[in-house]
Amino acid sequence: MRVVFLGAPGVGKGTQADRIAAQYQVAKLSTGDLLREAVRNQTALGLEAKRYMDHGKLVPDAVVIGLVKEKLADSSCVNGFVLDGFPRTVPQAEALGSALASKGITLDRVVNFEVSREDIVKRLSGRRSCPKCQATFHIDFAMPKVEGICDRCGESLVQRSDDRRDAIEMRLKVYDEQTAPLVRYYQERGLLFQLDGAGTVDTVFHHLLRELAPYRTT
Ligand code: AP5
Repeated sequence: MRVVFLGAPGVGKGTQADRIAAQYQVAKLSTGDLLREAVRNQTALGLEAKRYMDHGKLVPDAVVIGLVKEKLADSSCVNGFVLDGFPRTVPQAEALGSALASKGITLDRVVNFEVSREDIVKRLSGRRSCPKCQATFHIDFAMPKVEGICDRCGESLVQRSDDRRDAIEMRLKVYDEQTAPLVRYYQERGLLFQLDGAGTVDTVFHHLLRELAPYRTT
């Protein structure tokens, strides 16, 4: 299974990518998670990326494309992958197409999550994340068993620096300008599946399972 999860910030891509990766035993590649890891480790790439991420702007294409190509070459992707948050620009989509073509493979499906702007703002402002294992929770919709503590690893949960109101507004603007054109891009290539992301996490997951089952490799 080789799929891309597309959609505005906060539509639930990461939440569902975790579940699909576990269900079908494929790799989850989240450029947001990879970049945050680089920021935490204070690598040169992380220090550069932080300048963009804190303000809700996209990290330059060359940086992100290099990161994804390296990960796609990893043995963890041999069963397939869910790409969460990549590609986000037309040049990234073209680079992904070329990288896969050089391996003689193609994408199976691109899922575009649709959620209203009002719900997106609620989801992002109430999100809490685990800085250690990257698990995601929500203060109303996906509460941890113990308030403020990660169910998976026991670490204290934090609010992402780009989930502040001003950064959310910038991320949505950047999405409209740079990422939304990918809906048409993948529609024209016959790969797009429009998913209503407004239901509960379980409802959305069941819709996804139905759509992606034909592409499972295990
Ligand atoms: P990234 O981490 O990818 O952020 P994003 O795309 O803005 O997506 P989010 O993680 O905010 O949302 P999501 O759709 O994954 O939703 P989630 O499942 O967490 O990127 C961060 C930054 O890194 C970017 O701004 C950019 O700077 C940089 N970057 C990353 N990729 C890049 C690229 N390719 N090129 C350049 N720069 C890049 O859910 C959100 C909340 O809602 C959670 O609290 C969750 O519990 C809750 N929730 C989920 N589903 C539901 C549901 N069905 N009902 C109710 N609540 C729900």
